[in-house]
Amino acid sequence: MATLRETLTIVKQMGDLFAGEVDAAGYSKYAFEPDNSPSDFAFLSTDAEMAREELIAAAERVLLLARGPQGSLGEYRQTGLVMGTVHSLIEMGIPELIPLGQAIHFEKLARGAKMAVELLRRLVSLASASGFLRRDGDYVRHSAMSACLVQDVYTADATRFMLGVDMRANAYVAASVVRDPTGQTPESAPFALSLQASGPKPTTYWDFLEQNPIECRRFRQIMEKLSAAPTRSVAAVPMAFDWTQVNTVVDVGGSGGHAALAITEQYKHLQITVQDLDEVLKQRPLLTSNDGSRISFMAHDFHLPQPIVADAYLLRFVLHDWPDRVCQDIIRNLLPALRPGARVMVMELTLPEPGTLPGWLEKIMYINDIAMFALCSGQERSVRQLRSLIETCEPRLEFEAATTPPESHSTLLSWIMR
Ligand SMILES: C[S@@+](CC[C@H](N)C(=O)[O-])C[C@H]1O[C@@H](n2cnc3c(N)ncnc32)[C@H](O)[C@@H]1O
Repeated sequence: MATLRETLTIVKQMGDLFAGEVDAAGYSKYAFEPDNSPSDFAFLSTDAEMAREELIAAAERVLLLARGPQGSLGEYRQTGLVMGTVHSLIEMGIPELIPLGQAIHFEKLARGAKMAVELLRRLVSLASASGFLRRDGDYVRHSAMSACLVQDVYTADATRFMLGVDMRANAYVAASVVRDPTGQTPESAPFALSLQASGPKPTTYWDFLEQNPIECRRFRQIMEKLSAAPTRSVAAVPMAFDWTQVNTVVDVGGSGGHAALAITEQYKHLQITVQDLDEVLKQRPLLTSNDGSRISFMAHDFHLPQPIVADAYLLRFVLHDWPDRVCQDIIRNLLPALRPGARVMVMELTLPEPGTLPGWLEKIMYINDIAMFALCSGQERSVRQLRSLIETCEPRLEFEAATTPPESHSTLLSWIMR
């Protein structure tokens, strides 16, 4: 573990690298105001992006060291309160009531939101001290962070989803572990317990999405947006396998078909059937590519036997949503359709063996892992764990390869049915 002095040196070095590219992109006055802030850092070079991640990890460590052991424990309370405060302001529609580039008086804002001015003032004061909104005396205006919610519909939807769903789940992590110390029961997942606290149904995260079209749409949009993120870019799918070896593919749990589109754009001979829940497919955007005709959609529940015979079955970011027992049921449900020579393909953000990646990257993986647990008793797995899961489930599935395309963190594993 780096000492305080060593960590401060890392902050300085990585901070200079990061700030250099921020300046060069025209943000030399970057101070979190709407008119001087980029909304994301997509413009950074790969080196500067790495420097940014290391800067964040080192800065978090400086905070830990500066707060000390007791202060750091106390910080958990503050984090929860800030999240709850920002969530409440978003739920009351406050960001949309503040005109971009202008300040609004508390009295007027409170009237618009139909809430008591004093409570609004208190909530805004904490939010403002934490970087969300800016309080100037009796007036409020946007900070760069709150402005994102008004400027970018995707960010607004993703934030609402995260605060509404993830925060509820977080509050029940401990209760879930106490109730089911194996962590293997979707009905006892933290989010499922939060649902059950307000009524008997729905019982799991997936029931919740099926029964809530707005949340379902937000979830699907997040999946699509994540498919552009470097760690799980959909661009890695065509690169991870020689798709000339197959002609027909079923993309099991394929959401709006974004992976199918990425594959068929490069491999013109392929026919892909995208299967997902009825509610998800009802909301899919129309495919705009010319290749749309080679992609078809089919409502199919992967907890039931697979009805389509194909050369390959792709499960991309599907198994990480489920505990081991259910993953094995999903694989067994493919068996009625699996002919000798057919492939099962699993693509996931595979967990590294401990100590093999930089600490900041390991932490991102561990956050993903517990996020999966909190939502639906899922988990991220290493290549070794995925192999063991599939091969103990069906010994006729012979391991073929595990490929991680350059600059991607997702790995495609394939097995051939013997
Ligand atoms: C994490 S998302 C992955 C989506 C897509 N494969 C990708 O790579 O972005 C998991 C998908 O499984 C779908 N799903 C969940 N339960 C399902 C079920 N019982 N049958 C079919 N699809 C299901 C969800 O709707 C969602 O689209």
